[in-house]
Amino acid sequence: MDFFETVRNRYSARRYSGGPVPEQDLRRMLEAAVRAPNATNDQPWHFVVIRENAVKQSMRDVVAAVLDAAVHAASDPARKERLSRMRAYSIHFAEAPAAIALLARPWAGGSGAEPDSTARELGLESASMAAAHLLLAATALGYGGCFASAPAEFARAELEAVLGVEQPWFLVGIISLGVPRGPRSRIAPRKPLEEVCTFIG
Ligand SMILES: Cc1cc2nc3c(=O)[nH]c(=O)nc-3n(C[C@H](O)[C@H](O)[C@H](O)COP(=O)(O)O)c2cc1C
Repeated sequence: MDFFETVRNRYSARRYSGGPVPEQDLRRMLEAAVRAPNATNDQPWHFVVIRENAVKQSMRDVVAAVLDAAVHAASDPARKERLSRMRAYSIHFAEAPAAIALLARPWAGGSGAEPDSTARELGLESASMAAAHLLLAATALGYGGCFASAPAEFARAELEAVLGVEQPWFLVGIISLGVPRGPRSRIAPRKPLEEVCTFIG
């Protein structure tokens, strides 16, 4: 598959056939991930590959519990509905043969004079680039995947506890990976370039 075909074929696959993702393929995806551009080559990322079902289920349980409590506490029906819908978008990693918890830490390449938020953002930006590489590599190898920030947004502390993540590392999101179940159902449309690009010169 040529590069542009890989880019066109990549989509967020959230349902999996159950076929395994062998370690050698995971390693190829991770090799692609760590080739990503990153702030001053500080490589402020870490990838926790989870194939153990019991761990995925524990992770699922903590996310579901936080979401259920939020749905229960919401008084506005529209918010209740939105939170309920987020469930499926937050726990697909539990059904995926492999889930990768994407961790970042604050960028350590600065002079120390930068605000803490700058160092954190640079860590996050670097990890995000790695996630994009990983998902493209997964596509090139015939797998599907989906990056999800929602589990971290809803249950960051709980998931970090399950995974034993220690500061300064923090959970960015979880990447679900597997052989997609069924054909690509819909192509998420993109805005035309005219709308999102400005050429100067
Ligand atoms: C920062 C970020 C956060 C995302 N969070 C979630 C998420 O929590 N759950 C999910 O199922 N998909 C999530 N996605 C996937 C997007 O929904 C998806 O990329 C987008 O709808 C475009 O669809 P496509 O990837 O199929 O082209 C996220 C993607 C990004 C880049």
